[in-house]
Amino acid sequence: MKTGLLLAIETSCDDTCAAVLDGARILSNVISSQAKAHEGFGGVVPEVAARHHLELVEPVVEAALGEAGVTLDDVEAVAATAGPGLIGALLVGISAAKGIAAARRLPLIPVDHLQGHVAANFLEPEPLEPPFLCLIASGGHTMLAGVHDHEGYELLGQTLDDAAGEAFDKSARLLGLGYPGGPLIQKEAEQGDPEAFEMPVAMARDPGLDFSFSGLKTALVYRCRELGPEGVEARRADLAASFQAAVVEQLRTKLKRALKKGGWEAVALGGGVAANGPLREAVARLCEEQGVRLKLVPIALCTDNAAMIGSAARFAPRIEYPDYLGYDAFATGGRSAVPH
Ligand code: KG4
Ligand code: ZN
Repeated sequence: MKTGLLLAIETSCDDTCAAVLDGARILSNVISSQAKAHEGFGGVVPEVAARHHLELVEPVVEAALGEAGVTLDDVEAVAATAGPGLIGALLVGISAAKGIAAARRLPLIPVDHLQGHVAANFLEPEPLEPPFLCLIASGGHTMLAGVHDHEGYELLGQTLDDAAGEAFDKSARLLGLGYPGGPLIQKEAEQGDPEAFEMPVAMARDPGLDFSFSGLKTALVYRCRELGPEGVEARRADLAASFQAAVVEQLRTKLKRALKKGGWEAVALGGGVAANGPLREAVARLCEEQGVRLKLVPIALCTDNAAMIGSAARFAPRIEYPDYLGYDAFATGGRSAVPH
């Protein structure tokens, strides 16, 4: 019998995820993607996501325990994403975690989703120890985090409007590609010329570390209008390549600025957009130029997963039974309060 294991659940968006961790070692990391259910809508429909989580959470937890070759008897604490995310989706995961924990009188560890993306870097086989600079770019968030320890991060910059992944998803829809947009734009862009269309690299002259992607999306709307449906069809790969290059350039520019400002010696990428090939290459080149170490976690740990939630949970406060029974998920902002 193995003891001291952590069961983690993540349901903040459209993936139902559960993982079992033994310290920083992943014993299982199960992800059930709902992408197919949302494809026809061109984006995640919150209510549809919550209902799917409800159906999937139990089998996914069972699969995670099964793959790890353990039972709930081996688990010493249950972690779940408490926010930020889609509230209905989050409630399913946190309620499932509370139920499992309460039935066995185990502690509950609520985890911040973004801290989870940061903590993906602490996992075996090659954990990255703080301090490091972390760029998180996902469907819901884009931020630069200064990671000084395992418990949290300093917010250095964030998007003022759309997230990078959201821009990929909305632009893919404009170009008549499917959902999720990031991988489809990347694939389409392989056949295109990134310099074919001039796209704005927002905030390039802004001295701060914030991001903006809504202007880029608008620029694409105008290019598509000028070209008309047939023109878009004919130039889709060029449009995708030019759009992608502008996103990558903005992320790279801000990362470079943050590196120079902070004197960081290591960089990590996280969030779904970190799966983007050209972004990974651009950041790798930048780190080489600047002489800093780059940590790229496997793509399965960049996109939403429960192993990263378990990793963050190792350094987060535990709530003992029964104090968490009234614990609520939060859609935006900070940690939800535990009612007294
Ligand atoms: O981190 P994640 O799985 O979920 C959120 O927390 O949002 O990120 C999903 C986002 C989607 O917007 C998706 O289009 C984007 O990551 N994404 C990509 C790629 N793979 C996923 N964006 C660009 N290139 C990719 N290869
Ligand atoms: Zn995420």
